[in-house]
Amino acid sequence: MKLAGRVVVITGSGGGLGEACARRFTAEGAKVVVTDVDPAGVERVSSAIGGVGLAADITVEDNVRAVADLARRAYGEIDVWFSNAGVAGPRQPGDVQANPLWDSSWQLHVMSHVYAVREVLPAMLERGDGYLLQTASVVALSTQAEKAAYSVTKHAALALSEWLAAAYRPRGIKVSCFCPGAMLTPMLLANGLPADHPVLRSAPTPDAQADRLVRAIDEERFLIVDSEQGPDAMLAKLTDYDRWIDGIAPPFG
Ligand SMILES: NC(=O)c1ccc[n+]([C@@H]2O[C@H](COP(=O)([O-])OP(=O)(O)OC[C@H]3O[C@@H](n4cnc5c(N)ncnc54)[C@H](O)[C@@H]3O)[C@@H](O)[C@H]2O)c1
Repeated sequence: MKLAGRVVVITGSGGGLGEACARRFTAEGAKVVVTDVDPAGVERVSSAIGGVGLAADITVEDNVRAVADLARRAYGEIDVWFSNAGVAGPRQPGDVQANPLWDSSWQLHVMSHVYAVREVLPAMLERGDGYLLQTASVVALSTQAEKAAYSVTKHAALALSEWLAAAYRPRGIKVSCFCPGAMLTPMLLANGLPADHPVLRSAPTPDAQADRLVRAIDEERFLIVDSEQGPDAMLAKLTDYDRWIDGIAPPFG
């Protein structure tokens, strides 16, 4: 799909990858609606792109509806819903983590996309056109030993995208899942890594990732990755699951 002229909602676009995509997609000619739980980020990014925005916690279904309503009032039917907001949560190696973190991770990484699909899919199906895009993580293809709730709910996010693609691609809906490795966004920078950690030198910038997403959306590929790390993990599981588990080096994501 070419983004020019398309109405695009990007969640978590008050900073990080979402902000870079809001700017880049606007440069492609898209009409971008900015939404984030951080009101200052929404204000900053929507002013910068000359667009509209709404500060909202998208784990609440009514808030997702309000964002969709704003998009439709401002620009018309929604062509692309990009479920990108995510929270990495604390690093707790070997800890199965507490219930509130599981609940909030499930709500944000899975249910917020379910709410968006409920809201935008009927009109997309009527037109036989539309794009559901989600950011999961490379940990959805692998795992991350120090973040149980994040790893498992990102797997679920990928599983939801797979299901959406299987169910709706035959009816004209495009579905993609972005499974990036570490990116130089506030999420990674707040991860408490030492300043000389190699990942801080090798991780791509959000702008580079936004370029990648424009190309991938154009190609309408289901799985979008930024390295062979995830596909290699999948292949390793398939080849020898036990060996893969024994060799896990916790990635960042
Ligand atoms: N940064 C990385 O290394 C990395 C790696 C793999 C995957 N990811 C994924 O990429 C996506 C983008 O993350 P990022 O790196 O830009 O992180 P980020 O923290 O910079 O941006 C995430 C944005 O989501 C917003 N957000 C959080 N909870 C929200 C909620 N309930 N409602 C609305 N907005 C909410 C935050 O305010 C923030 O602006 C996330 O899904 C993340 O899990 C990040």
